[in-house]
Amino acid sequence: MKNKSRLKVVLFVLMIILSAQITLAAFDLPRVVILTTGGTIAGTGGSEVGAGYTSGSISGDELIGAVPELLNLAEIRTEEISNIGSQDMNDSIWLKLACRINELFSSGECDAVVVTHGTDTMEETAYFLNLTVHSGNPVVLVGSMRPSTAISADGSMNLYNAVSVAGSKVSENRGVLVVMNDKIFNARDVTKTNTTNVDTFDNPNGGPVGYVNFGDVFFYSSSEKKHTCESPFLLNGIDKLPRVEIIYGYSNNSRLFVDAAINGGVDGLVYAGVGNGNVYSDTMEGLKDAMKNGISVVVSSRTGSGRVDNGETDFKNLGMVTADNLNPQKSRVLLMLSLMKTKNTEEIQSFFDEH
Ligand code: DGL
Repeated sequence: MKNKSRLKVVLFVLMIILSAQITLAAFDLPRVVILTTGGTIAGTGGSEVGAGYTSGSISGDELIGAVPELLNLAEIRTEEISNIGSQDMNDSIWLKLACRINELFSSGECDAVVVTHGTDTMEETAYFLNLTVHSGNPVVLVGSMRPSTAISADGSMNLYNAVSVAGSKVSENRGVLVVMNDKIFNARDVTKTNTTNVDTFDNPNGGPVGYVNFGDVFFYSSSEKKHTCESPFLLNGIDKLPRVEIIYGYSNNSRLFVDAAINGGVDGLVYAGVGNGNVYSDTMEGLKDAMKNGISVVVSSRTGSGRVDNGETDFKNLGMVTADNLNPQKSRVLLMLSLMKTKNTEEIQSFFDEH
């Protein structure tokens, strides 16, 4: 009888020690909020090997429920921002997302944010957040190329790695990051390069800034361009962004789409020129008319890598802005944000030089 009660006391003390350790361990963990927007990472398909599936069909809690190991990495909670395929990403979701992240950091509610996102337009959202989130706390975008129901689905490991990167101190003050397939990219330079391959993300001008292997995080470089805390683009009170369209260059081009943009009353145009940004002559006449109509024109390139600057064409003398090595879809994001502040070509050019 005596032995029994002694055993009870020992067990009781052990339970208290154990639960204190668990509480302390949880206290040490970084607080990560996962904001879900949809995409394949939240998608399910009818077959384990079929290419067909529906994006954005499972909730954030189901997503983390499938990767219980995440709870060893961070104190996690989820919030849904949207549940769409990222081909449907739009300005109002961007504004909601950026405002929520700024709010989470300024209120001190969390240490880092992970955004789950479809891969199609992930790079644009990442770059938008890179310029509109004003905090050094880590923000990491992640997605998957295969739905959760596929054989060898990539979402669980990508999410595990993304939470590891977000929760790591070495990820602070690096701007918004994208984690896919064990690689870490900066938001400005990353782009989707393949329609279906799991190794689709790359920075064609310089490669990843780091790697993450089963949650171990290694950085090797960082972007020289301004972002987050150094970015001048504030969204306070903004509920609508300037309208900027992209026009693609090719042989035997015309001014048809430039005229449509002028008639449609756009604020800005990005021209994805051939080679070093070169423009078909009829299209160039259209772009000159667009500028006479007060439309700002940025010249980028359809080549996928390399800088656009004055070369064969003296763009700056014509009143156009050159995109540096920013691709057309990212140039659109930066022109939209620039036009919130100015219509002056030199000032817009300096935003493109610095960001
Ligand atoms: N519909 C695409 C999207 O949400 C699927 C691609 C993906 O998420 O991998 O971006």
